[in-house]
Amino acid sequence: MKCLLSGMWSWVVLLVLMGSGRSMGCLEEEKNALLKIKAAFNHPDGSSLPSWQGEDGDCCGWEGVECDNTTMQVTRLYLNNTREWGLPSPWVIDASLFLPLEELQVLNLRWNSLSELNGVLYLKKLKRLYLSGNYLQRVPSLYKQTSVETQNLSSIQLEGVNLEVLDLYDNYLVNDALADITRITSLKALDISGCELNASKLLEGLCGLRTLEELDIGKNGFWGPLPSCFCNLTSLRTLNVKGNNFSGAIPSCLLHNLKSLEYIGFSGNAFEGSLSLASLANTSNLEVFDLMDNRNHLEINTEGPTWFASSQLKVFVLSNCVLNKDANGVIPSFFKQRRDLRRVRLSHSGMRGNFPNWLLDNNVNLEHLQLQGNNLSGALNLPSNLNLDSMRWFDVSANIIEGELPSWIGFILPNLAYLNFSANLLEGRIPSSMGNMKQLQTLDLSNNGFTGEIPKPLAENSTSLGLLKLSGNNLQGQLPLRLFNLPGLTSLYLDNNHFTGGISHGKLNGSSLRVLDVSNNFLSGTLPNWIGDIEYLKMLVLSSNLLEGPLPLNFCNLHHLVLLDLSSNNLGPNIPPCANVTIMRFLHLANYTLEGYFPKFLSRASSIVTLDLRHNALSGEVPSWIGLLQNLKVLLLQGNNFESSIPSDLCLLKNMSILDLSQNNLSGQIPSCLEDLSFGKDGASMNAVESSPWLLEDFAFAPTETPPWLLAFYKYEGRFSFPYWDYLDYTRAKFELEEVNFMTKRRLESYKGSILRLMSGMDLSQNNLTGFIPPEFGHLSELRALNLSHNHLTGPIPDMFSNLKNVESLDLSYNSLIGPIPPQLMELYALSDFRVAHNNLSGRIPDGKFQFGTFDKASYEGNPLLCGTPLTSCDNSSQVPETPPSLNHTREDDSWREAFMWSFAGSYVVAFLGVVLFLCLHPYYRYMLSELVRKLIPSFP
Ligand SMILES: *[C@@H]1O[C@H](CO)[C@@H](O)[C@H](O)[C@H]1NC(C)=O
Ligand SMILES: *[C@@H]1O[C@H](CO)[C@@H](O)[C@H](O)[C@H]1NC(C)=O
Ligand SMILES: *[C@@H]1O[C@H](CO)[C@@H](O)[C@H](O)[C@H]1NC(C)=O
Ligand SMILES: *[C@@H]1O[C@H](CO)[C@@H](O)[C@H](O)[C@H]1NC(C)=O
Ligand SMILES: *[C@@H]1O[C@H](CO)[C@@H](O)[C@H](O)[C@H]1NC(C)=O
Repeated sequence: MKCLLSGMWSWVVLLVLMGSGRSMGCLEEEKNALLKIKAAFNHPDGSSLPSWQGEDGDCCGWEGVECDNTTMQVTRLYLNNTREWGLPSPWVIDASLFLPLEELQVLNLRWNSLSELNGVLYLKKLKRLYLSGNYLQRVPSLYKQTSVETQNLSSIQLEGVNLEVLDLYDNYLVNDALADITRITSLKALDISGCELNASKLLEGLCGLRTLEELDIGKNGFWGPLPSCFCNLTSLRTLNVKGNNFSGAIPSCLLHNLKSLEYIGFSGNAFEGSLSLASLANTSNLEVFDLMDNRNHLEINTEGPTWFASSQLKVFVLSNCVLNKDANGVIPSFFKQRRDLRRVRLSHSGMRGNFPNWLLDNNVNLEHLQLQGNNLSGALNLPSNLNLDSMRWFDVSANIIEGELPSWIGFILPNLAYLNFSANLLEGRIPSSMGNMKQLQTLDLSNNGFTGEIPKPLAENSTSLGLLKLSGNNLQGQLPLRLFNLPGLTSLYLDNNHFTGGISHGKLNGSSLRVLDVSNNFLSGTLPNWIGDIEYLKMLVLSSNLLEGPLPLNFCNLHHLVLLDLSSNNLGPNIPPCANVTIMRFLHLANYTLEGYFPKFLSRASSIVTLDLRHNALSGEVPSWIGLLQNLKVLLLQGNNFESSIPSDLCLLKNMSILDLSQNNLSGQIPSCLEDLSFGKDGASMNAVESSPWLLEDFAFAPTETPPWLLAFYKYEGRFSFPYWDYLDYTRAKFELEEVNFMTKRRLESYKGSILRLMSGMDLSQNNLTGFIPPEFGHLSELRALNLSHNHLTGPIPDMFSNLKNVESLDLSYNSLIGPIPPQLMELYALSDFRVAHNNLSGRIPDGKFQFGTFDKASYEGNPLLCGTPLTSCDNSSQVPETPPSLNHTREDDSWREAFMWSFAGSYVVAFLGVVLFLCLHPYYRYMLSELVRKLIPSFP
């Protein structure tokens, strides 16, 4: 704000100068120099600086030129943002063009796609040089070298400049540029943030700049400990190292020695260790303390000894750390004395205790309060006479706050733009006074216990609302059409409530909706025709309602759908023939009464990532063109009537992480090439958009912490406009809305977000598959769940399964597997569910060590020849199944037993031959077999 004022002030001076007080025009040679500069900016054919006209006499009146009011020499030159965008870039300008302007004190060349300031910019009076937002790799040369004879570098005479402010933010500096900077010992403010620097060693050179008052090295790649020589920069008023990769402890001398600090920015690094804020006791001017997001490794103590924060403190930002561990996570007591806090952010810090209502009472200028992800309890007691006009952002989500919201909340927080109370224990009705929050852009009350209907004023008059999330409450009633008509609404989440009735048919006038989720309610009737009028709808989730009937015809107008979930309604069975699925990424049509063959239109779904067709009545083959859907990661075909064999084209889908073909009539052998699928090996590619939210937020709210200093931080202004979070939410929603159900450990689990990214599994159970289990599946080292149960598989359990290091659930039950359970499986330390029941396995169950100590009888039963804990002990030598000892058995008994023995022996021989044959045919086992034989019979070649 003050910067803005000072900027305006300089313009006022300019206007005054232009109007009066000036008796003569500017110097002719300076005017000529300016015209040459103009030509260079416009080269080859630009039209910037139209007011710079030769005939017009006085150049002091030109746009961006300021002169001294007595000498009429140019003292300030604002050429920021001057070169036109279309002109060739990057671009080089000659420093010599500026040399005639001998009295120049301020030169602003920001945002000009400048790649080099060629030559020496030797201007003795130059105090401020602004170069941010260009393509510079080096710092312009500012010195006239007067003696270069000696070889010794240090004795070169540099006729010095008096540069005080150097702004290089957002360039592409090479690391050596740091060495150039260390020579400008007159510097008071230096900004080299966002320059892709990473030579942490060279940072120590900056410690020689003893007059530095502002230093910004944020958003680079610096790593390792923060140089402790920074403790010597005792003039520093602002120190910003945000967004690097600094690690180790924050040197406590830094807080202790730098008594002039007004701004501390340490967020977004990897600092660790513990830090007592009591070492800030001497910084009586501290206004901003910013220490967010250091990967939870940092312990911060504000108590014992207690920190008495400076009376200037306005911004206190801390998150993802361990706060006051030794004081039971107490809310920092220094807050109690503060009366002028503007922005408080203390999220995910393990705080306990009642919600600090007094914080709101005491700080009427509070703009921003974020306390999400702690253990704050109690109720929100906001007296009705409070007047928090300045408050824009209020987030206490993910705590354990209870009770009802005060009915007057909308009147005491009239200017709120962002309100997030989600994931608490709030109850009662949503206060209708919220309709009074005319600037509200985001309202998230999801996952509480709210009841009643959506209040009318909110649904009808919230014209600024961009995101409304009321998911996971007990809300009821019908959905008013006006809600979908709110002009700014882009994301509407009403899922998991008790909404009833039909969605009103009527007319929509230009909805901006991008995301609409009304799943898991009791909505009934047909889909309104207006759904197709939501032109830019990207995600539509209607699953688990009572909707019915065919899709409306103009459903086809939805050309931008990326995610569509129509599962579990009575919709369908048709899919409009016009459906354009080329950009669809997530398609869920489970329980959709689809019939016939695998839908052909899906062959055009080249972007598809998830295809969920579970529990329909599809039949015929799984088509071989499925191999064309190269982006497919999740394929769910459970519970259909697919038959014939599993197409080997599936093996072309290298990105697959969840494959569920269970409960079909698939037959034939399992293609061993399925080992080619990634099943998690490719890591996190599900989420292409990895953003660092703290950075974006920083941009959005930087203006509130704009300090009155020479240089720092006003650079963020206007770079992101206020409602940036709609964008954020959209990119997050893309993945958070996507939900996949997959059976593992005999439970149907739902996977979302980052968990979905980590999940990988293959379920081929309940089919008619035959043949051996491909030993190659042992290569699926990232696989977490494998279910081949309820088939007709034969042969042994492959030893190679001991390589399934991440498998948590392995179900091979109800097959005809033979041979022993390979003892190597004991190395599967991740295994928590293991089933081989109802096969023909034999031999000893691996010792009850590690995971194998936890499996019970049900894992093994129904294998007559298997012994050992938890089944019967193997000591009774005989491997026959337990038969109750009967003393007076009859002849029939004997003949039965004989027959059993023979059939058993027969099947044993067959099985043995099978194993031998298998071992002989399979190259790996052939090798192992020959090795074995070689060991047993030393003379074997
Ligand atoms: C001219 O500038 C000086 C300082 O540079 C200032 O004190 C003086 O008031 C200015 N005169 C006018 C007429 O603006
Ligand atoms: C150039 O910078 C000055 C001072 O920071 C500012 O007032 C002016 O609006 C800027 N001009 C442009 C074109 O961005
Ligand atoms: C601070 O500067 C003094 C000399 O003025 C030097 O002896 C000392 O080592 C410096 N401290 C650090 C931590 O570099
Ligand atoms: C919506 O706003 C209009 C005009 O401000 C007002 O007349 C109307 O009563 C409001 N509607 C509701 C439901 O509060
Ligand atoms: C489908 O949508 C894509 C992308 O919007 C478009 O390029 C393509 O022409 C559309 N195809 C049909 C058949 O409408």
